[in-house]
Amino acid sequence: STEVSLCPPGSGKGTQSPIIKDEYCLCHLATGDMLRAAVSAKTPLGVKAKEAMDKGELVSDDLVIGIIDEAMKKPSCQKGFILDGFPRTVVQAEKLDEMLAKQGAKVDKVLNFSIDDAILEERITGRWIHPSSGRTYHTKFAPPKVPGVDDITGDPLIQRKDDTAAVLKSRLEAFHRQTEPVIDYYTKKSAVAELHAEKPPKDVTAEVQKVLSS
Ligand code: AP5
Ligand code: ZN
Repeated sequence: STEVSLCPPGSGKGTQSPIIKDEYCLCHLATGDMLRAAVSAKTPLGVKAKEAMDKGELVSDDLVIGIIDEAMKKPSCQKGFILDGFPRTVVQAEKLDEMLAKQGAKVDKVLNFSIDDAILEERITGRWIHPSSGRTYHTKFAPPKVPGVDDITGDPLIQRKDDTAAVLKSRLEAFHRQTEPVIDYYTKKSAVAELHAEKPPKDVTAEVQKVLSS
């Protein structure tokens, strides 16, 4: 099965996806995580993506479609996917439908993390992440046991370069201009479930579980 989550920056898709992935045995594919890994490894892909990411703009459709196409071929992904941060443009959504159709599959569920923009700055500026696992913390809403340290591995946590109030502004602009039309695209084709992403993490998890079990 394939689940897609459409959400503004900081709405909680990266927090919820790992929980869902384990519960439903899905492969969690997050284009943002894959791109950040490519940037820090300075691969040709990372070099191409860095400038747009630093500015809070979307990287080109061709680049992300290429990485998703590769990732979906991995044997570990046979049970299905939860796509986090993809598709983010109508072109990407059309291409995803094409790729799935070739395998006789389709997008099964679309999760729309609905939230007011005003809440997002506090979430974004307080976020700390453990890059290698994708585990996400927040100084106020989800603090690690020891400040700046991952609970499980003891590794140092880092802040994302694009997690500033200024870059968030362009990320939100990109969301409204380029990703909101994807919600309309899916509304015409399949059921889009709207989640109340401003609620506490546990409540959001319960809403996601309800949608995926229906
Ligand atoms: P990406 O990595 O996808 O970033 P984003 O869309 O900006 O989303 P975030 O990761 O900021 O938000 P999230 O919803 O995962 O929030 P989280 O759960 O961590 O993309 C980054 C860049 O890569 C893009 O700008 C673009 O350049 C490029 N890119 C990626 N995909 C692309 C594509 N398909 N096409 C083109 N370019 C692409 O939560 C945030 C914080 O809030 C955390 O600290 C968390 O602990 C806390 N929190 C979470 N839930 C709650 C809650 N319910 N209550 C209180 N706090 C909460
Ligand atoms: Zn994320």
